[in-house]
Amino acid sequence: MNFEKNILCIGAGYVGGPTMAIIAYKCPQYRVTVVDMNSERIAEWNSDDLPVYEPGLDKIVKTVRGRNLFFNTEIEQGIKEAEIIFVSVNTPTKTFGAGAGLAADLQYWEKTARQICQCAQSPKIIVEKSTLPVRTALAMERILTSNDNGIRFDVLSNPEFLAEGTAINDLENPDRVLIGSRQTESGLKARDELVEIYANWVPIERIITSDTWSSELSKLAANAFLAQRISSINSISALCEKTDANITDVANAVGTDSRVGNRFLNVSVGFGGSCFEKDILNLVYLCQNYALHEVADYWASVVKINEYQKNRFVLNMITAMFNTLVGKKICLFGFAFKANTGDTRESPAIFIAKRLIEEKAELVVTDPKALKNARIDLNGIDSNVSYMEDPYEAAVGCHAIAILTEWDLYRNLEFEKIYRSMIKPAFIFDGRNILDHKKLFQIGFNVFPIGKPALTHF
Ligand code: NAD
Ligand code: UGA
Repeated sequence: MNFEKNILCIGAGYVGGPTMAIIAYKCPQYRVTVVDMNSERIAEWNSDDLPVYEPGLDKIVKTVRGRNLFFNTEIEQGIKEAEIIFVSVNTPTKTFGAGAGLAADLQYWEKTARQICQCAQSPKIIVEKSTLPVRTALAMERILTSNDNGIRFDVLSNPEFLAEGTAINDLENPDRVLIGSRQTESGLKARDELVEIYANWVPIERIITSDTWSSELSKLAANAFLAQRISSINSISALCEKTDANITDVANAVGTDSRVGNRFLNVSVGFGGSCFEKDILNLVYLCQNYALHEVADYWASVVKINEYQKNRFVLNMITAMFNTLVGKKICLFGFAFKANTGDTRESPAIFIAKRLIEEKAELVVTDPKALKNARIDLNGIDSNVSYMEDPYEAAVGCHAIAILTEWDLYRNLEFEKIYRSMIKPAFIFDGRNILDHKKLFQIGFNVFPIGKPALTHF
């Protein structure tokens, strides 16, 4: 079959896989290929057990795989054949050398740029999908034009705003699609080609355009603003606990001001995920580089409050359980960084599990989707950790339960049954405030919500 366009995506991760699946699904007239250097991951994309758990993803992949969506490891071949190349490789925080612990590690991204430069035999549009420091497109352009082979490359910035767990809905009905380009004739032409792809399913007024640097910076700023809301509400939760105020009422009162809005104000044990912390640290590093120290400190405090919140949660557990956790059995309800994903990258559960292990507690981890990753995260330190899928079984013989992920499943459990199977006094630390605290207290639990008075029988 003759396709209108050949689209390639380099990087078959949480962004590359779902994003390309949606493009293939919405645009049967395009051939979409996703490549990765990780052959195991590609094999999983070609199997019944996809490497990414996302509600709705399986069905879409099954519909389009082999029709106009293909996964393989033939990167060079893919580059040669494609007119449009999305780059969706990982850009983690650098762990070595200059900027270690703050700057984005651009080695995967640069490797891709050089590979495109070496293999390309015809003009290409290169789309930055990964989250990158502002002005990275300039470096991409410089690498691509270094070969002097006369091939034209246009580099666009098209950051991804999907959130895990809701990726399919976010991709099908995005608040906006952002495309940044050079304001030159060929830059604008390339931009229009990308607009045309999204216009297959996204209303045109939601496709917004800008210059390249604004687009790159908007992505970092958007994540920083979102994370800042969580740190804001979490910081107020600490004050609530000291003053007997109730964080749910405060969040509601603040959020009903339409200028603030009520979404994304859920108090928690701290935010996790592969991006918030990494992108804020990247922003901090950029500001430091431009000697904007006050701006850097402002954003760094969002991460600092997040660390504080995670640590505070553990300290509250220790204090509540008579200042020692040695030999106590604690059940972690949830290990994923949020509900509806198996992803545990930077999950607050990792930090909390490690701290509880340091306190010589015994842990039982339960999660409907993330146990495989939890085992990897705690590998080497888990001699006193067991993993169980069934939350009822996991709680048996435990002194305490800590709710770390807001899975719906935990809201409707039979807590009378769980209480009966636990050691007394039994504790619940609700790190997501998703349970009915009064009811748990009536059952007999000592209940420690976040940002609300504890309900104890002592
Ligand atoms: P990921 O680690 O899940 O996937 C990246 C993939 O790229 C990996 O499979 C890796 O093997 C592959 N890769 C790396 N270098 C390669 C190379 N040179 N050639 C071929 N393949 C290569 O990462 P992700 O979560 O999909 O994130 C990708 C980017 O998107 C990051 O910049 C991230 O900040 C951004 N982002 C992520 C999300 C999210 O929800 N995860 C949302 C928006 C933006
Ligand atoms: C986030 C952004 O929401 C996406 O727009 C962005 O594309 C993505 O980062 C990215 O760049 O990777 P994601 O991390 O997948 O998406 O999930 P979120 O829903 O933002 O949750 C992040 C963390 O914040 C989770 O640990 C979640 O539990 C926590 N959270 C979220 C709260 O503690 N309170 C809230 O009110 C909302």
